[in-house]
Amino acid sequence: MKITVIGTGYVGLVTGVSLSEIGHYVTCIDIDERKVEQMRKGISPIFEPGLEDMMIKNIRQRRLAFETSYEKGLAEAEVIFIAVGTPQKEDGHANLTYIENVAEQIAEHIEKNAIVVTKSTVPVGTNDKIGEIIHSRLKADVNISIASNPEFLREGSAIHDTFHGDRIVIGTEDLQTRETLERVFEPFDIPIYHTDIRSAEMIKYASNAFLAAKISFINEISHICEKVGADVESVAHGMGLDKRIGNQFLKAGIGYGGSCFPKDTNALVQIAGHVAHDFELLKSVIKVNNYQQSMLVDKVLNRLGGVTGKTIALLGLSFKPNTDDMRDAPSIVIANRLAALDARMKAYDPIASGRASQLLPDAVEYHESIEDAVRGADAVMILTDWEDIKHFPLAAYQTLMAEPIIFDGRNCHSLKEAEQAGVEYVSIGRRAVIPAT
Ligand code: UGA
Repeated sequence: MKITVIGTGYVGLVTGVSLSEIGHYVTCIDIDERKVEQMRKGISPIFEPGLEDMMIKNIRQRRLAFETSYEKGLAEAEVIFIAVGTPQKEDGHANLTYIENVAEQIAEHIEKNAIVVTKSTVPVGTNDKIGEIIHSRLKADVNISIASNPEFLREGSAIHDTFHGDRIVIGTEDLQTRETLERVFEPFDIPIYHTDIRSAEMIKYASNAFLAAKISFINEISHICEKVGADVESVAHGMGLDKRIGNQFLKAGIGYGGSCFPKDTNALVQIAGHVAHDFELLKSVIKVNNYQQSMLVDKVLNRLGGVTGKTIALLGLSFKPNTDDMRDAPSIVIANRLAALDARMKAYDPIASGRASQLLPDAVEYHESIEDAVRGADAVMILTDWEDIKHFPLAAYQTLMAEPIIFDGRNCHSLKEAEQAGVEYVSIGRRAVIPAT
């Protein structure tokens, strides 16, 4: 089938590349000329394992092309995916300007009947609005139908998630559209759940909000564990054995970040507010997370008595491993707070330092290796559980620091390991390990 994807951010690019991989002819449109030039050469603008190889393969096989022009990009389209951003406005609402502009462009440039599918996360009712915008401007002999197909991929494992997802959700209002979209997705061999458009839009927000709630829940439990002498890792494991609860998204840490959970939880609170529903539970989820992001600094302050003039090594800066995405990363909150307290920071991240340097305060110095960041530091803070950080032996901190104190915001190490290494080790929801003197 001939497919056009509009927007080449995480969702758009991964969607376009994956749809070409399963045999469709895909054109991705983006207004950024430099980015399109790079993508035509097979260079991915984002760091995403497996994406670039798949891009190169499908460009060579002539199933994947990139365009800046709506006219050229939409000429042949049978199915059009909208995958532009819906960033958060100051008041928490989703900003729909990009989506609305795209709807206008589609109306102006399509020459034949097509299905317009929204992949971007949009408030309930937005698809109706997209339909209205397009229909009001459409040429007389052209027809479109509207559908919603929310995205559930995670950054850092986006290709894997696309090919091994638990479900594909398709929201439609007519049988023909439903059947055509079923044919588009069939080669993925993933269960398809059909529903109406508004429910599909809601499934996306409700899913992200629920996952965020699981994280805030276990983070709250972690505080109680510390006070009553329980171990949150063990508690989460024991809870997760119950299939009704499930073992995923129960990892306590320094809170959720990224481009989705913070934005979508705020947007859902707004959506609820519009229909006069005070979503108290979700408000608490957000509040817990805001505290969680800087709580590790409190632990450092309690232990060191202050950080003025001290050197803190920050290990991992991206909001999670396998991505260079810094959006709403806890490292931003943490580094700003430490900078305000006049601490010196030495940071290491295998991929995200470039992006981080544009966002973090000047007091942060960037290093190419864990060893260089840690050498001579007064304390280490582990902020992202990258593989190399997780596997960096705790004993190595002994040789790099005068008095090794590690604050682990991601529970990368076992307490036994910390005891054997003879380091001071403070983690989340577990007792602190203090070496015998
Ligand atoms: C999330 C959802 O998982 C995807 O299903 C969804 O498609 C995506 O948002 C989106 O809306 O586009 P993503 O933001 O890429 O994906 O990352 P996650 O792996 O979900 O992690 C989000 C944050 O939660 C990270 O900061 C991570 O460190 C944190 N987290 C995750 C925890 O603190 N504990 C956990 O147990 C799991």
